[in-house]
Amino acid sequence: MTILYKSDAARGAEWARLHRERAPDIPFRVWPDAGDPKEVRYVIAWTVTPDFLAQYPNLEVLFCTGAGIDSLGLGALPPSLPVVRMIEPGLVEGMVEFVTMAVLSIHRDAYAYARQQAAGQWKALPVKTAAQTRVGVLGAGVLGRAVLGRLAAFGFPCAAWSRTRPAIDGVEGYGGEGELDAFLARTDVLVCLLPLTPDTRGFLARRALAALPRGASVVNVGRGGHLVAPDLLELLDSGHLAEAVIDVTDPEPLPAGHAFWSHPRVHLTPHIASETQIPTAVDALIANVRRHRAGEPLPGLVDRSRGY
Ligand code: NAP
Ligand code: GLV
Repeated sequence: MTILYKSDAARGAEWARLHRERAPDIPFRVWPDAGDPKEVRYVIAWTVTPDFLAQYPNLEVLFCTGAGIDSLGLGALPPSLPVVRMIEPGLVEGMVEFVTMAVLSIHRDAYAYARQQAAGQWKALPVKTAAQTRVGVLGAGVLGRAVLGRLAAFGFPCAAWSRTRPAIDGVEGYGGEGELDAFLARTDVLVCLLPLTPDTRGFLARRALAALPRGASVVNVGRGGHLVAPDLLELLDSGHLAEAVIDVTDPEPLPAGHAFWSHPRVHLTPHIASETQIPTAVDALIANVRRHRAGEPLPGLVDRSRGY
């Protein structure tokens, strides 16, 4: 019964070292050193192809190294193969930090002051209280809930929107298409933490962005495929939107010459909002493999019909 890791090789060596320390009873191999293909029961990867998986006739579960599983190409995988996304505290904490940084930077005008500094301009802007910046998070899953918990503690009025209306202490919950406009109308900083699925691709387009109040800002830490870049740029240029913090793009890396590179109101990072932290992710994987051996439910199991 072997776990096969197939992703970044340098990180694979660290996964293997920690796994062997913590679960010496479960063989762990780093691709291409897969050993006997018949022994491979678990694969953990960021991307796979159906041909790659077909080499392992006794594969029982496909784990993703990340929280988002869109890179696995779900549609081409055997429908009966269980797919499990990564849930681990290091990944959650990284996202909480990044979104907090972005929301505070927008709220305290850090981007406006950077532009003023570049222009040699000394000019105080009104200092707002947290109560004056309403934050709205798209997606109330593992990451969205953690982010909301931290932001609410600053005193930002927080709301969450998801497929089903979320019930979170101290957070206004909105659910489904019918409650989307009300959610957007009360949101000054919109944070996208949706998974990328056929239903959510292109979600951050004119229809949603224009429904935000004038002067609102956007933080996209979901996936590049959520955002329709020309719509965002038009709304930034017209002054409807103030700032866009963009951590994910489509494609990645962002091609040279793309308008995001030089737009003064686009604040770009190369998909680093959060990263799976190997020491805690190893424990999460071991726990899930042990649960699977025991026939117990797996946290992070993807619902193949919903695509997340
Ligand atoms: P999750 O726990 O699966 O939560 C997903 C949330 O999105 C749920 O609340 C779900 O609603 C909602 N949702 C899904 N489809 C929807 C739809 N069509 N309409 C409305 N709501 C919908 O996921 P997570 O662990 O929080 O991760 C979210 C995403 O963050 C990942 O998929 C990945 O794309 C992104 N991510 C980015 C980075 C980065 O570094 N930039 C790092 C990690 C993750 P229900 O609750 O009603 O089911
Ligand atoms: C990173 O983007 C992840 O989905 O974990």
